[in-house]
Amino acid sequence: MSGSLVCVGTGMTLGAHISPIATSYIAQADVVFSLMSTGITERWLDEMHDDVRSLQCYYQEGKNRNITYNEMVEAILTEVRAGKSVVAAFYGHPGVFACVSHRAIKQAKQEELPAHMEAGISAEDCLYADLVIDPGKTGCINYEASQFMFYKRNIDPAAHLILWQVGLAGDKSLAKFSTGKAYRQVLVDLLLETYPSDHQVILYQAKILPIDTVRAEQIALADLVAAEIFMHTTLVIPPSEKMQPNQDILDKLAAIDKSEFQSKHRPTLRLVL
Ligand SMILES: C[S@@+](CC[C@H](N)C(=O)[O-])C[C@H]1O[C@@H](n2cnc3c(N)ncnc32)[C@H](O)[C@@H]1O
Repeated sequence: MSGSLVCVGTGMTLGAHISPIATSYIAQADVVFSLMSTGITERWLDEMHDDVRSLQCYYQEGKNRNITYNEMVEAILTEVRAGKSVVAAFYGHPGVFACVSHRAIKQAKQEELPAHMEAGISAEDCLYADLVIDPGKTGCINYEASQFMFYKRNIDPAAHLILWQVGLAGDKSLAKFSTGKAYRQVLVDLLLETYPSDHQVILYQAKILPIDTVRAEQIALADLVAAEIFMHTTLVIPPSEKMQPNQDILDKLAAIDKSEFQSKHRPTLRLVL
């Protein structure tokens, strides 16, 4: 019998965000692997199935996270190859800033084993609700904080900028559980090339337990270096500038509008014999 893999998300807030389809896959699985954000969420998942195996044991400070992720993928795939119906449950959305699910599905497909992902509620989804931001209003760019530092990325100061894993900003080793002020100063200096130092940024933490309060702390960009930042903190930088009209494109569109209008209203010639 062929095994299968489904990666599901349990959402951000314990018990409140999990979808009916994720609940159903978990209930029907032979084995459930879990990567939750806290011990309490792990215990809550334990109640849903009698064979839930936490992947947290693979993390180790000083160990390259790439090795950790490959070990997690291997643990999941071993059970799929053995013909089991496997669910891998991740907090949030299983495919948002989460590489284990993507790697596991890719590997399973290479081995012609059925695998797919079900969407979940991510930190970004919660952020739009809690901070009352509509990403469609001015646009919104998401970067992983370290990647944003290591590569030359574009910043649009007229859009929202969301930086994930800001607690690990600048970690080249992939082996740290947090980086300190010196690393964060480099990030702030990079951001100061675009934003004023008194620009208000938001330290965001969604509720993990329903009784938690949302952290939506506004601070000046310059104060980010000394701020309290955790593994689960996301940095939100609101726009500092207004959107600038793209006059070239607007002129081209106006010319199209004009020629369409003229062709619709062209006087028709009648032959009078
Ligand atoms: C490895 S990613 C996992 C994201 C997750 N898959 C999701 O769907 O949101 C970890 C990062 O997600 C963000 N994150 C995780 N938990 C959060 C929370 N409770 N509130 C805000 N952001 C959170 C932080 O930026 C953190 O560094």
